[in-house]
Amino acid sequence: MKSEPLILGIETSCDETAVGIVRGRTLLANVISSSVEEHARFGGVVPEVASRAHLEAMQPAIAQALKDSGISLSDLDGIAVTAGPGLIGALLVGVSAASALALALDKPLFGVNHLASHVAVDVLTHTKPLEPTIALLVSGGHSSLLKVSDITGDITALGQTMDDAAGEAFDKIARVLGLGFPGGPLIDRDAKAGDRNAIAFPRGLTQAPEMLSRPFDFSFSGLKTAVARYIAATPTAKRADISASFQEAVVDVLTMKAIRACKETGIESLVIAGGVAANSRLRELAGERCATNGIELRTPPPALCTDNGAMVAALGSLAMSSGRKPSEIGVAAESSVPVSRAIWA
Ligand code: KG4
Ligand code: ZN
Repeated sequence: MKSEPLILGIETSCDETAVGIVRGRTLLANVISSSVEEHARFGGVVPEVASRAHLEAMQPAIAQALKDSGISLSDLDGIAVTAGPGLIGALLVGVSAASALALALDKPLFGVNHLASHVAVDVLTHTKPLEPTIALLVSGGHSSLLKVSDITGDITALGQTMDDAAGEAFDKIARVLGLGFPGGPLIDRDAKAGDRNAIAFPRGLTQAPEMLSRPFDFSFSGLKTAVARYIAATPTAKRADISASFQEAVVDVLTMKAIRACKETGIESLVIAGGVAANSRLRELAGERCATNGIELRTPPPALCTDNGAMVAALGSLAMSSGRKPSEIGVAAESSVPVSRAIWA
């Protein structure tokens, strides 16, 4: 069992063709080729367009990652690939490329969970143990609070969104505000010129009865409706105030429930992961609330929060160094998988 395996990770679950290389917990290369501009005019990711873009970008991305890290394919100890959840056609491109590499190089292949890899990327930024930790996983497709005892195999979902994911809410409101796609970074930027206390938008599942029955679940559909109604009824409102007040409503609930999960489980560590973890106000408010409550906060750098290949390589590296059995060559891609299944059998 190698303690610092050299792993190449491939990520193609959505619109980023990403290849990362890590040695143990050290990041050596992180190449990302995004097809986001091809989807922007449709206001969302078009699966067929994404799959074709992955096919075109895959080989150049692998070549660039090898060049950036100064290694050759034969140096690798293993290959990791996102096997789900995600767009099935997009996942298949990554899984095929990874299986071909593993077979040709005769190296182990690890099919890994995209959601667990978002959390695993945390190990690339410090040397402390990751677990135990609470993870607030907030991306374009998922929003959940996780209790992570072992990121390669012991993850419990404490709660999740009942409707939209946090990133999806950002994307939908950005569209209503005419900001463009993807909406998260655009609202983040627009909100800087606004007053976050200008409009008191609702905080889903935070009132007494729901907070008791669903303390760790989220709901953003009521907020979305409230923002849309406000925009229709108040045409003269300042857009930046709406952005800032909407963003505040989202990050207030996310951080409040994450802190509560830490307190109830007695776990004094919180990792915030996924694309929405790049949000500047979420990072700021989480920092304040964690400090007040004596919780150690870990937020990967923004470039490692949105989809990337380094996170996939990081989880593959943790799986290999902890002696996990590799996945089968030709591992089956699956569009919908619970986060508890971190590594494919
Ligand atoms: O993790 P990710 O890159 O892809 C998925 O696995 O879904 O997350 C993408 C989501 C998008 O909804 C995007 O709008 C959101 O993350 N996002 C942000 C920010 N940067 C990306 N949301 C809020 N603020 C940001 N700065
Ligand atoms: Zn993601």
